[in-house]
Amino acid sequence: MQRTKSVTNSTRDTFNLELLLERLRNAAIKPDAAKAVRIILEQTVSDPAQVISGMPEFEENDVILFEDDTVSIWHSRFMPSVTVPAHDHKMSATIGVYRGSERNDLFENDPAGGIRISGKVELSAGDVLSIGPSAIHTVTCISDEPCCGIHVYLGNLSKVERSLFDVNTGVALPFTDENYNRLMCPADQSILPPDQK
Ligand SMILES: [Fe+2]
Repeated sequence: MQRTKSVTNSTRDTFNLELLLERLRNAAIKPDAAKAVRIILEQTVSDPAQVISGMPEFEENDVILFEDDTVSIWHSRFMPSVTVPAHDHKMSATIGVYRGSERNDLFENDPAGGIRISGKVELSAGDVLSIGPSAIHTVTCISDEPCCGIHVYLGNLSKVERSLFDVNTGVALPFTDENYNRLMCPADQSILPPDQK
């Protein structure tokens, strides 16, 4: 995990990451924070080329741009042909994609136990997805290039106790690096139980 201490902006572009972070922090403390955050992300990724030209090249796939107890703003990059493990956030999340494409497989708790698939959403550069505090999802990069997005969570994502899920068994596991790496799989291997393919 790379944590940025300071973020420099390109003077060549009108995209200004520091300004975006400030706007998102202000939005996150509004009464209708999820909607306010979504509007800003929609405006931002509506011009993906501008974001690409102004966004720093991060070394890590997940970078915390800002985090406090009201909001977590992450830059996330998903690599081609990889599916990240099913996970929850325990808080509202808004995802704005500005490069590449990804598929989100959404899950919900199954009253019979475990989890079951509840939907599928494909996002490309310019798209925004909002998911609620109980949402569980996997993300698969479906473009030939990495899929990059700005992820905004309404709370402190690093502090909250989260879970990973083995979608083949429905079992929830603590969100640890060890479990994350064990559940990571190539996109060409099915992540779904046989009856949900
Ligand atoms: Fe997520």
